[in-house]
Amino acid sequence: MARKKAERPDFGGPFPEHIAIIMDGNGRWAKGRGMRRVFGHKEGIGSVREITTECAALGVKSLTLYAFSVENWKRPKPEVAFLMSLLEEFLVKERPTLMDNAVRLRAIGRIDDLPSDALARLRETETLTAANDGMLLRLALSYGARTEIADALKAFARDLQAGRADAGSIDEETLRRYLYDPATPDPDLLIRTSGEMRISNFLLWQISYAEIYVAKECWPEFRTPQLHAALADYAKRVRKFGGLVSDAPEASESKA
Ligand code: FPP
Repeated sequence: MARKKAERPDFGGPFPEHIAIIMDGNGRWAKGRGMRRVFGHKEGIGSVREITTECAALGVKSLTLYAFSVENWKRPKPEVAFLMSLLEEFLVKERPTLMDNAVRLRAIGRIDDLPSDALARLRETETLTAANDGMLLRLALSYGARTEIADALKAFARDLQAGRADAGSIDEETLRRYLYDPATPDPDLLIRTSGEMRISNFLLWQISYAEIYVAKECWPEFRTPQLHAALADYAKRVRKFGGLVSDAPEASESKA
């Protein structure tokens, strides 16, 4: 597939540089059609491909997809095995699409927990795509935000013990440096599909000021028109990061 030409529609306002997505509702989508849950995961791959390609074409800088949480290991063994083989297949089959769209793939999470075959395919795809200069696609795999913060503290404690860090100097930036991928700026927009109003242990540190958008569609139904609806909604948001927007009327009133 050839690289899609970037023709960004006018969404009528700001555009997010980093989008993070909680891909929810695969099981419900399948059950609602009288199929087994795993068919929902399979169909979800189509959405992953379409949303990745569209985000790359629109000029999104980073896209982070919550593909498998640390808590997901608790699911029935056959479902976990299915998801892992789907991941492995995805990491090989999608290589041409990633290359055609100049997408760099990177994983965040407790990656070493993955089965060895999936891990090997992941490392190969990361290496293959490392020099691509387009969008960064981050797959959150065996990911949990509390685990990420615990892992960061453990790494910091090791540096402290070895004399490489100083307890008195801990601040937000210090902690950030110990997170899984500190160089990638925080998400501007967090999308969750299937109408659920939950964060589910996803990027708790990084979404502090993300705009949240909940789509009613299940993940397999979340395609380009649904993404555009989320972007149009984001374009209307006013982001203040706890401060004041200088041109907003309230700002000048309170300054006065
Ligand atoms: C949530 O649906 C989705 C997941 C637990 C995994 C998401 C996985 C995919 C989209 C496919 C694999 C992705 C890659 C990148 C290989 P759910 O099962 O919790 O749905 P439910 O809430 O309806 O039960």
